[in-house]
Amino acid sequence: MNNITLAPVQPDQPSHLMPVFGRQPISFVRGRGAYLYTEDGTEYFDALTGIAVCGLGHAHPVLAEAIADQAATLIHTSNLFEVPWQTAAAQKLAEVAGMEEIFFSNSGAESNEGAIKIARKFGHMQGIASPKIIVADRSFHGRTLATLSATGNKKVQDGFGPLVEGFIRVPFGDIEAIEEAAINHPDIVAILIEPIQGEGGVNTAPQGFSYLEEIRHICNQHNWLMMLDEVQTGNGRTGKYFAYQHTNIVPDVLTTAKGLGNGFPIGAVMTQGRGVGVLTAGNHGSTYSGTALGSRVVYTIIDIMQKENIVANAAEKGAYIVEQLRSQLADHQVTVRGFGLMIGIELPKDCGDLVNIARDEYKMIINVTAGNVVRLLPTLNITQEQADQLIERLVTMIKAYLA
Ligand SMILES: Cc1ncc(COP(=O)(O)O)c(C=O)c1O
Repeated sequence: MNNITLAPVQPDQPSHLMPVFGRQPISFVRGRGAYLYTEDGTEYFDALTGIAVCGLGHAHPVLAEAIADQAATLIHTSNLFEVPWQTAAAQKLAEVAGMEEIFFSNSGAESNEGAIKIARKFGHMQGIASPKIIVADRSFHGRTLATLSATGNKKVQDGFGPLVEGFIRVPFGDIEAIEEAAINHPDIVAILIEPIQGEGGVNTAPQGFSYLEEIRHICNQHNWLMMLDEVQTGNGRTGKYFAYQHTNIVPDVLTTAKGLGNGFPIGAVMTQGRGVGVLTAGNHGSTYSGTALGSRVVYTIIDIMQKENIVANAAEKGAYIVEQLRSQLADHQVTVRGFGLMIGIELPKDCGDLVNIARDEYKMIINVTAGNVVRLLPTLNITQEQADQLIERLVTMIKAYLA
């Protein structure tokens, strides 16, 4: 019973799955570290890691053992009871995130739903009947109704109106637009922003991370909550535990998911400063919030990240990869940007077909976002040898593609 092996899915095989995903015609049956394997044993370099999820790589032995042990001991009781692993995971996460209160969710979208609820309640506590949240163009915050309404991408919203109201949109990186919104809308209570826009094309603000410092200043002036969506940029991805730690400021609300669980579905909405104490008993919840199993996963991942110095490795290898790509592709009209191991290579033309070319010809899993940006999100514990292997395959592929 425990050793069932499934045959790979055939492209023409009938399926009961809702056809919401555009899937590639390949399935992987196992993974190890930075590599994925098909049933016939072909090895692929995974430079996507489940879209910034498996930062520790596939089948990390310490994490696998912790999951197996906890599954064989106790998976879930309910938040009707104390959950020691949840308390321990919250303590560890609070430490690395610089936050005070934590609610565990099950995904990035749910974490952002929590943040949106915090902002609205924060407004209502001050007598603001119709609280508004500033969000950015080209942002991505999730697929639930409130988070798709916050998202700055028409394709995500089309067909799902009426959208949730209460969002004011500004161009990413534009401080003047935020200041103008403050004048025109007295009922703004918060800003929700990604430090680096992932789905939108690995976009950093033109002024870099000082954008976040400017936002912090405006939030202080107007008594708004500064809320950062670090679903993708968190958990070591940019070379700091959270991307805001590249600056001297701290947000009031911080959301995360993805790398928090390395493939186990778990997220978190966290608060400090003005965000603390807004949600109280009965305001929020979820059956699966911080199960014993999910919490042990979070605890174990942070422990591994700390013991193996993984965030420092992400910073170092990320800087090396960016520098090598910039110099080796200097004559090819590409722009390489990003922090740590969240890297975008913008090409001078649309390049969606590079996903298939990378997979079939170079045995490399990558992603293309915003039409012409190759997005790299490799494992955070990538070795020097693997970094060189990745650079070599990318440079060869992009040179051939642009030739
Ligand atoms: C910045 C950001 N926020 C939210 C989400 C949504 O997370 P999830 O798919 O776990 O709901 C994503 C997913 O790509 C993301 O990149």
